[in-house]
Amino acid sequence: MGLSQFTQWCECKISSIAPARALYSFLYKKAVMEEIELAEVSESDNVLFIGGGAVPYTSIYIAEKCNKITVIDCNKCCVSKAQSLLKKLKVGNIEVKNVDGQDYDFSPYNVIFVPLQAEPKKEILKSIALTADREAKILIRAPKASCKCYTPIENIPAKLEKFKKLKQITFDKTFLCRAKDIKA
Ligand SMILES: C[S@@+](CC[C@H](N)C(=O)[O-])C[C@H]1O[C@@H](n2cnc3c(N)ncnc32)[C@H](O)[C@@H]1O
Repeated sequence: MGLSQFTQWCECKISSIAPARALYSFLYKKAVMEEIELAEVSESDNVLFIGGGAVPYTSIYIAEKCNKITVIDCNKCCVSKAQSLLKKLKVGNIEVKNVDGQDYDFSPYNVIFVPLQAEPKKEILKSIALTADREAKILIRAPKASCKCYTPIENIPAKLEKFKKLKQITFDKTFLCRAKDIKA
């Protein structure tokens, strides 16, 4: 089992265990707040998150700052767990869809989050470059050098505008660019 499958499995297990879910989400809170600041997410933004998993903690934090956020995930089980969780938590402004980020129409969104485990990065970014608004803000989490199973930031085909340094187990920076800066 790879790291991505392990995360999927863990999230599916803990999505219905409140204390474990709360601790897991809390571990990422500071980093997500920094990312929200980096993207300057505001009320009027229409945000998309690619690969929300069964415990879409990043999107739950972002949803507190914007009108609406759409979460897509290519795994059916994660989508149904996330939908049940959001219903239980009474979070009304997050929509979860069972879709792959490699083949999606990104045109309605002006802020798009591309987390570490959303892969393959090149295909996802190509799809963003082809369909998103040119000025849409794209956030990309960069893996630590020790995390070899994810696309290294040097291989991302984009001119990266600015970044925030973060302290997480698997990623240590999140970059911001515009859709127009991605080379499709
Ligand atoms: C990105 S993480 C989970 C994120 C975390 N729960 C959060 O809130 O930040 C893993 C999820 O990404 C999904 N995923 C990976 N690649 C994807 C793709 N190309 N399109 C959609 N979902 C993807 C996996 O199915 C998995 O559920």
